[in-house]
Amino acid sequence: MTEPAPATASADVSPGGCPAHADVLPLYGPRFLRNPSELYREMRQEHGSVVPVVLEGDIPAWFVIGYREVHHVLSHPEVFARDCRRWNEWDNIPPDWPLRPFVGYQPSTLFAEGDEHRRRAGAISNSLFVVDQFDLRNKSEKIADELIDAFAMRGEAELMAEYAHPLPLLVLARMFGLPEAETPGLLRDMMTTVNGDEGALDAYQGICATMERLVAHKAEQPGADFVTRMMNDSADLTEEELIADLVLVMTAAQQPMAYWIGNTVRLMLTDDRFSLNLAGGRRSVGQALNEVLWEDTPTQNYLGRWAARPVHLGGQQINTGDLLVLGLAAANSDPRVRPAADAPAVGNQAMMSFSYGEHRCPFPAPELAEVICEAAVEVLLDRLPDVLLAVDPGDLEWSPSVWMRGLVDLPVRFAPSYVSG
Ligand code: HEM
Repeated sequence: MTEPAPATASADVSPGGCPAHADVLPLYGPRFLRNPSELYREMRQEHGSVVPVVLEGDIPAWFVIGYREVHHVLSHPEVFARDCRRWNEWDNIPPDWPLRPFVGYQPSTLFAEGDEHRRRAGAISNSLFVVDQFDLRNKSEKIADELIDAFAMRGEAELMAEYAHPLPLLVLARMFGLPEAETPGLLRDMMTTVNGDEGALDAYQGICATMERLVAHKAEQPGADFVTRMMNDSADLTEEELIADLVLVMTAAQQPMAYWIGNTVRLMLTDDRFSLNLAGGRRSVGQALNEVLWEDTPTQNYLGRWAARPVHLGGQQINTGDLLVLGLAAANSDPRVRPAADAPAVGNQAMMSFSYGEHRCPFPAPELAEVICEAAVEVLLDRLPDVLLAVDPGDLEWSPSVWMRGLVDLPVRFAPSYVSG
């Protein structure tokens, strides 16, 4: 599985190697959204593991969809680098390009490289590492109960807006030591940003401003929280670095967790293996969470890496400064690691959903995310044992994004019940 991908350095770069001049596929559009796994299969058959594509606005990129190739790219940051300022297409990118928020440079850990990245990412990992997982589980359960209390008596709910999105944010807000009065504003700004609604840019600025106020508050009143630990870390972060990384952690954590919860609840409510009875469902939450990471991972495709020098990858010639899009979901379904499309992956943790290598989702974030998401799904099933989808499973709408896979909404019904307290 970890056999190196066929990548070799090359100084001989022909113009034909540029994705703009090759046989390219659009990495957007309705087909992509309808059935991405079918499309990955076709792409793999026709183009192999590294596919020349164009992003919205006809911007060329390489779409890496083979497990070995994704693994190889992520294992060699000196060749496939993270700083987006290396991109050879910046002159062609309009100021209002819709993907700018994903690739535009920010002074955060995300785009740092080498020693600088190790210093910054180390501060995040150190500060997450001391989070007590039992305490996190208790906080997550308490927040889950409070959110369910708000709709339990109605007998119906829209679980994305009322549960899956707010729950991780509220847990993170407590982990950050955010004053309670700030939480509703942060939740509102995060939802506007995530949904790309009108005002998304202002909302993003709102998140930055909240983090600035939080840092000022913690300077006066330090606490046993993530932000205070980041401020005191030996990485000695500047204020600009600190705020950029607090915004990064908040935004990098909230949406994948919301979609992980939503996709898992959807699976358990629509697949007989999970929905036969409640007791069976409750026991198999961990299995459903794991299956979602393999089959319907929230982090489908990731932007990206930039070639630091000319290189061959998967039979393609990559030029210096070319953009590579990481096909994490496609790698997870690569027949070279999953011989039978329906072979169960339960127990196997080798999926690419948290990425791999230096810039992977930082340890122990995946473990903390699992604690939060598992508590969210278990408490929901405990509190609403007869919960059912309120629409036909085929009518559930996936968010129109090539990058993240999650539901627009998840309407459910259940027998009205009393509040928990
Ligand atoms: C407590 C929850 C989480 C936290 C605090 C967190 C934090 C982060 C941070 C700070 C990064 C940037 C790392 C870097 O560039 O060095 C990151 C990257 C990433 N995270 Fe997470 N995350 C969380 C949950 C998740 C979940 C639930 C998923 C997917 C199911 C996920 C998938 C990823 C991926 C794919 C990357 C990109 C790594 C790359 O560039 O290769 N994260 N995360």
